[in-house]
Amino acid sequence: MIHRYYKDIVKPLSAVMPALSLSFSLALALGFSLVSNVVMAGTVSLPMKTLHSRITLPNVSPANSALANRGAYVARTADCMACHRDDYSGGVPIETPIGNIYSTNITPSTRYGIGNYTESDFKKALRKGRAPGHQIYPAMPYPSYHGLTDDDVSALFAYFQTVPIVDKPPEKNTHLPFPLNIRGLMLAWNVINVPSTENRSGLTTTQQRGEYLVNNLEHCGTCHTPRNLTQGLDKDRYLSGAPLGKWFAPNITPDNDTGIGLWSEMDIVTYLRTGTLDKRAYAGGPMAEAVAHSTRYLTDEDLIAMASYLKVVPAIKTDDYLIPVNVSRLPQPVSNSITYNLLEQKDYLAQAKTNTVNSANNNGLNSNSPKDLYLAHCASCHGVDGYAQPDARYTSIVGLSSIRRVKPDVLVGVIAFGAKGAFNTAPKMPGFSKDLSPAQIASITNYVRVTFGGLPNSDVSAANVTRVIKEKS
Ligand code: HEC
Ligand code: HEC
Ligand code: HEC
Repeated sequence: MIHRYYKDIVKPLSAVMPALSLSFSLALALGFSLVSNVVMAGTVSLPMKTLHSRITLPNVSPANSALANRGAYVARTADCMACHRDDYSGGVPIETPIGNIYSTNITPSTRYGIGNYTESDFKKALRKGRAPGHQIYPAMPYPSYHGLTDDDVSALFAYFQTVPIVDKPPEKNTHLPFPLNIRGLMLAWNVINVPSTENRSGLTTTQQRGEYLVNNLEHCGTCHTPRNLTQGLDKDRYLSGAPLGKWFAPNITPDNDTGIGLWSEMDIVTYLRTGTLDKRAYAGGPMAEAVAHSTRYLTDEDLIAMASYLKVVPAIKTDDYLIPVNVSRLPQPVSNSITYNLLEQKDYLAQAKTNTVNSANNNGLNSNSPKDLYLAHCASCHGVDGYAQPDARYTSIVGLSSIRRVKPDVLVGVIAFGAKGAFNTAPKMPGFSKDLSPAQIASITNYVRVTFGGLPNSDVSAANVTRVIKEKS
């Protein structure tokens, strides 16, 4: 679920308290006398929240079905389901430094959902983070939705009238400790951090559509843009890559060495449509969720618009260099029959395992041989040659960007803690931090980077692995 990935976007509680007070002082410096407002908003917000589920507000205009259909598409592009669940009943924890913030029921239930919302309430919630009677925490991406057009808000609103009612509260609700439960604090935060992006000038109509999709609807920057001191998006480092729990959302600016400058527009479209780019990249972890819930449903026009816009955002160079794919160094499939024939591959694997056992030490495996470690622990899913098992339930790892970065931490993390594919029901990748020693994980990491990534060399050490495991646990 997506919630895991927000965990380390931001720093622990102790670190965010100064950040919040900083947002206060900054807001004060900007001339807002917020203190009393904030306390007021905080004290009145809770009773009003309880009340608002009971009062019956004037009901909305009947849903126009064409409008509602368009709204269903807008909801896809804005990825509402990723956080509010497939049936919009809410209760998904978004882990933040200040504690878990649970998404809410946004079905038209008048008791538990947004059935009492007017269109104007809905618009304020999406654009300003202001629900009737309380401020919304920015775990809901209103700093991005701030730029939604009136037409799209109306379409979304019409669509949410047609969503089946779930007449029960989310399984869990947000309970933050004092003073973070003072939702009015967000007023100060909003002054600094909303909107979260700026529009560029000189764009073609297609690129403008792409900008609107990337910045506002798809809120790609929520994961790909690093955070500022107050945990808002850092506009100066827009889309240049940010840590995301155990993952890292890479630099997607058009820088050739550290971003996706070498990708064509068609490459970007293919990646967002299918989650894979042959011998280049794979959408794992949180990106798998973005593809599975949202980008793969988009029209060709919209994917092309996003790709076209991503080619013209300012290129930013970071220290996370990508070693370019050197095709001549990548392995060839062992043979067509082995790569594409499951039974033959099984035989080949069994034979390879027998070989390792024959040459092995007392635990049945030559634990010093990186290749043996790979065959024994990884090949059953990713294939003896890295091209994955022929049933295609798992990703080929040949040439992937995640194994070609100078910083190996994400790869080490994937091997240590495992990963879950979001595209099919294949069993997830187990973590190996319990079964393998840091030295063995280092050894596999180096093997994978050199053999399947085409890197000239790789020197990840056991100490590197120990550090990553400690940092990401
Ligand atoms: C990244 C996760 C995320 C996404 C994407 C998201 N939401 Fe939310 N939303 C939340 C969370 C978390 C809350 C509760 C915040 C709180 O308690 O302050 C919330 C609250 C809301 C509320 C306020 C409900 C209330 O009365 O308090 C509305 C309305 C809402 N979301 C609608 C939407 C719609 C419509 C979309 C898609 C356009 C959407 N959300 C997308 C996480 C998300
Ligand atoms: C929930 C967080 C999240 C969201 C939202 C998200 N991404 Fe990603 N993205 C990631 C992560 C994590 C990766 C790394 C995936 C991997 O290596 O398996 C990634 C990878 C990518 C890559 C591949 C980069 C490379 O060098 O391999 C591209 C391109 C990309 N994202 C574009 C986008 C676009 C465009 C959007 C908005 C439509 C978006 N992402 C939204 C988290 C996210
Ligand atoms: C049980 C099957 C299984 C085994 C065994 C397995 N993996 Fe995976 N692996 C997966 C799945 C599933 C994914 C997709 C993860 C996702 O979509 O988030 C994956 C993803 C990956 C990725 C791509 C990360 C990215 O998103 O770019 C790499 C690299 C990888 N595995 C390496 C390994 C290595 C090295 C081993 C052995 C130590 C291994 N895997 C063992 C199933 C497996």
